[in-house]
Parts: sequence; structure tokens; C-alpha cells
Amino acid sequence: MCWKILLLFALVTLRCEGRSSGQLCFPKDFTWGVATASYQIEGAWNTSGKGESIWDRYTHSHPEQVFDHSSGDVADDSYHQFRADISMLRELGVLFYRFSISWPRILPEGFSNDVNEDGLRYYSELINELHANSIQPLVTMYHWDLPQTLQDLGGWTNPIVADYFVDYARVLFTNFGPKVKAWITFNEPLSFCRSGYGGNDAPGGHSSGLEAYMCAHNVLRAHGMTYRMFEAEFKNKTGGNVGITLDMAWLEPATTSEDDQKSAEVARQFMFGWYAHPIYSKTGDYPPIMRRRIDEISRRQHFPRSRLPTFTEEEVKMIRGSSDFLGLNHYTTYLVAKGKGKVAVQPSFDNDMGVIISQKPEWPKSNSTWLRVVPWGFRKILNWVKKTYDNPLVVITENGISSEPGLQDSKRVNYIDAYLRSLHAAVTQDGCNIIGYTHWSLMDNFEWMRGYSERFGLYEVDYTSPQRTRTPRVSAAYYAKIVKTGCIPSQKYSLVFKY
Ligand code: NOJ
Repeated sequence: MCWKILLLFALVTLRCEGRSSGQLCFPKDFTWGVATASYQIEGAWNTSGKGESIWDRYTHSHPEQVFDHSSGDVADDSYHQFRADISMLRELGVLFYRFSISWPRILPEGFSNDVNEDGLRYYSELINELHANSIQPLVTMYHWDLPQTLQDLGGWTNPIVADYFVDYARVLFTNFGPKVKAWITFNEPLSFCRSGYGGNDAPGGHSSGLEAYMCAHNVLRAHGMTYRMFEAEFKNKTGGNVGITLDMAWLEPATTSEDDQKSAEVARQFMFGWYAHPIYSKTGDYPPIMRRRIDEISRRQHFPRSRLPTFTEEEVKMIRGSSDFLGLNHYTTYLVAKGKGKVAVQPSFDNDMGVIISQKPEWPKSNSTWLRVVPWGFRKILNWVKKTYDNPLVVITENGISSEPGLQDSKRVNYIDAYLRSLHAAVTQDGCNIIGYTHWSLMDNFEWMRGYSERFGLYEVDYTSPQRTRTPRVSAAYYAKIVKTGCIPSQKYSLVFKY
């Protein structure tokens, strides 16, 4: 048994049992968790005072957009079954649970003048139960379920929504601050701005060359404002840390040509630097290459000003350095080649970035079209982050794979094994400052536009049973073993488990 102090959650005791020589072991204070998100698991979409979110509206009005025409109306029913979730967390032995709070469950109309007591009670009970089981909450404040009322005002394209987010954050810090020591403001803004305002996700916008930039701009402002508000009003009273979670696939040059090498770096700046540069670089602004390209293309498209908005000097100061840790979600790798260089009539993020993205057909597949198994990409992105942003404190806030149906999920076991080997090398050989790993996901859940057709869970969920019965997959026992020992099992793991 060893006891350690953990940076993120302050004083926490850690177990490190059953280490043996010859295994690949993580540092003793490295921490392990699992993740979920409100809309994907909670259900109870319109009960106990909850307001409508953009995902409620979108799945109800456009069921045809979801692969199996489903919604998160009931999902895993975690609103009623959260004690079952906690039993699973105990079985896994994880030190922390990353879950998200549904904004419209707390503030049904989006605004802080009307606080839903049932919503507060639900999350209080969840947090109390976690503590009673020595599991730390790692709380995401926004995992895509914006109140519909705020969408009716333009959603993240309207600068005022940043102010309303700060009001919402204040309600969370006031009510849960004493018991939550690690907060994530936003989950994957690249995904929800690009796919929500320029793709097929809720709210269903189709303007990646304009609205997606406005969304990103206001999300970064909201993040900075929230961080500074926390510093000024709560940090001394409650303690705790505030970070942001960014999705970072690795972007590998398609060939060794100089053009492809350059294009890969342009793509990294567009996709990661878009959010990380304002927070982590010394300039506190968008990456220079984004500025140059979007300014220039906007001019050639006869826009009166750049489609990429500009931060005021005050905003730059506010956003620069506004993160105690970087949450990093990583799943897969893409290849990047130089684009054709043509300026499109219709403005778009992809045209601004100007590259061609693909994957190698021989890379092993998951059950999701976009996710191929490329473990070496994990080590590369972690090293890129280390080099580009001066080795920031990183928590892996998501990593995982969709697998074949059923309990014998060898795909997931192999994925965890291979990706953790890469992570281990980044931590122990490359000196990347990474303090924890979170597996996505604790259990199967509503996988956005893919509905329930893609399963990411360590636990299988039976969607035909009223209780949404959860059953451990083989990977759950495998992950529990890693969590318990802090080491990757060295022997070829037997796929026969007893529960
Ligand atoms: C990232 C998102 O944060 C999560 O909501 C989603 O389910 C996983 N990726 C898997 O696609």
C-alpha cells in the first residue's frame, strides 16, 4: 500500500498494490478514472424540473439525423440508477469519476434567476455518494447540452451566452465547490463548434466558415471569464482547479514531402492551436497561421473583415494562462496531405485549413468509421503538446474504442493495452507531464449521431431492460487490474474472467 499526494484533487490517498518487476508500471501517483456525460447517460430529459437542451430539441425534431433514430430521453437512466454506476466505479477501483452537469437540469431556462432544486439535489447526492466511496468527482460543466432557450438567442454565436455561462458556473461553484476539486469548463470545443455549427450535430448549423469561428471565440471568452471569476471569488475559499478539455487526434504527414509536413503542422494549428494557443501560448491569441490564412481568404472572398474574430487586449490577458491543467481526449490518428489551394466561394473551416485528411485502410478498425487503432499516434500527440506548449500539466480525460457487441470485447482489451504502452512511454521516457488517465466510457451510452449503435462501455448496457441493466465486459476486469496495480499486465492477458 502506498500513500501519495495528488496534484489535481489535492490530498488524496492512492493505492498501489500488486506491482511486480518486469511489468510496465506508471509512476505511483498516476491516477485512473472513467468518464461519462450527462446527455449520454442521464435520461429523465423532461422530469424533475429539467429544461430542454439543444440535444433534446434536435433528436426530437430530426430523428432521421441519428443513425438508429434514437435519443437520450432515457439513455442509461443514470438519473435514477446512479447508485448502480457508483457500484461499478467501486468494482473498477478508480480514484476519480469524470461526469458532466446538464446546464438545463440546473437552470431550466438557461438563466440563473431560476435554479432547479431537484437538479441541485441530484448532483449533490451523486457527489456525496462518490465521496462516501472515496471517489473524487472530476466535473465537466459543459458537455454539449446547451439550454434550448439560449440556442434560441443564437447559442454560442451570441457573445452574451458567455456571460450566461459564467452565471451558470457561479451556481455550480457555490453549490458544489466545497466538494469538487477539479473542474473542466468545456468538453471538446473543436467538436461542438465545428460539428454543431458546421456539420450534423445539434443545433444543426451549416456555417463552419463563420459560425464555428464565432462559437470558438465565445467559448474561449466564456472559459477565460469563468477561470478569472473562479480565481477571484472561489479559489481561496474552496480550493480546486479549473481546466479545459480539448480533443486531439494525432495528425501525421501523409508522406515525407516538405509540403505534407507543413500541411500537417497547419492542420494541428487549426484543430488544436485554435483553442490551445490562446490559452497556452505567450501571445494569448489564435495561432499566427490561422490568422494569416483566414484573413487572406476572407479578403479574397470579398468579406469586409476577417471571418476569424479578434480578441480585445483585455480578453487576450484574461484567456492567456487560464487553465490549471489541460484535459486531453485522444482516440485516433489521421494522415494529412497538402490541399489543392483553391479558395472556395462558400467559406468553410476545411477550405481555410486547406489540407486533405485521410486514414490508412490497413490501420485496424473499431466499430466507428472515424476511429482506427494507431497507438503510436498517442505518444506523438503527447510529445507535440509537450514541445508546443512548454510541457503543461495534462490529464487524459478520454481515450477508448467502440467494440463489437457482447461481453468478450477483445478489441477494447487490446486497444487499452496498446494505447497505455504508448502513454507509458510518453510519461516515463519522454518526460511528458501527465498525471492521470480516464477511460471513455464507464458504460455504453448515447453516442450522439450514432445513437446506441456504437458501444464504448467497459460495461454493457441492456437497452431492452427497464433498469438498463449493466454487465461488466472482459475489459472492465482488465482495466480494474491496471487501476489496482498501476501497471500494464505483462503476460498475454487471458480473456476468461470470473465475476
Ligand atoms: C468524445 C466525446 O467527448 C464523447 O461524448 C464521445 O462519446 C466520445 N468522444 C466517443 O466518440
